[in-house]
Amino acid sequence: MDMHNGLVWLELANEAETNDLAARLARRSRSGDIFALTGDLGSGKTTLARGFIRTLTSPSEDVPSPTFTFVQAYDFDYGIIWHFDLYRLAQPEDAVELGIEHAFGEGISLIEWPERLGPWLPPRCLTIALHDGPGATARRACLSGGGEWRKRLPEILS
Ligand SMILES: Nc1ncnc2c1ncn2[C@@H]1O[C@H](COP(=O)(O)OP(=O)(O)OP(=O)(O)O)[C@@H](O)[C@H]1O
Ligand SMILES: [Mg+2]
Repeated sequence: MDMHNGLVWLELANEAETNDLAARLARRSRSGDIFALTGDLGSGKTTLARGFIRTLTSPSEDVPSPTFTFVQAYDFDYGIIWHFDLYRLAQPEDAVELGIEHAFGEGISLIEWPERLGPWLPPRCLTIALHDGPGATARRACLSGGGEWRKRLPEILS
């Protein structure tokens, strides 16, 4: 693993490798963690979130894209996972109605289109940015986070 200035780049050759990353993140996650998933339409944000949720719930858990509901909640043995898709959020303030502050304190949050939160996105989040890779099924993931993530990321990815 190469970390430069708190950034880690990972090559994800296919969906299985994206799921592997999702499982690693899930296994080392803690209540209060916020994962900001960025990337273009179809870059793999929901795929990664689904892998994360299935790791902590069950491999057969139904994980739809919350594009129209904005948020879906999943109970697991040690708490709750909130899966947000804020693509259709008109303004950052509308996230308050979704209970996003409660979610941030109460469980694990996975947020697609976190840009929509503007200043409401907590700086303690781990950002996972998905980019195109060399080939149809390839992606590049850039993981970045300040504070405790500098210590936790190497542990998660080792
Ligand atoms: N390495 C990969 N990682 C993730 N998804 C991949 C990969 N290779 C191919 N795919 C495919 O790319 C698509 C990703 O779709 P997904 O819904 O996860 O994107 P998204 O980023 O959530 O888009 P949206 O912004 O519309 O919510 C899926 O069809 C998935 O099978
Ligand atoms: Mg999605």
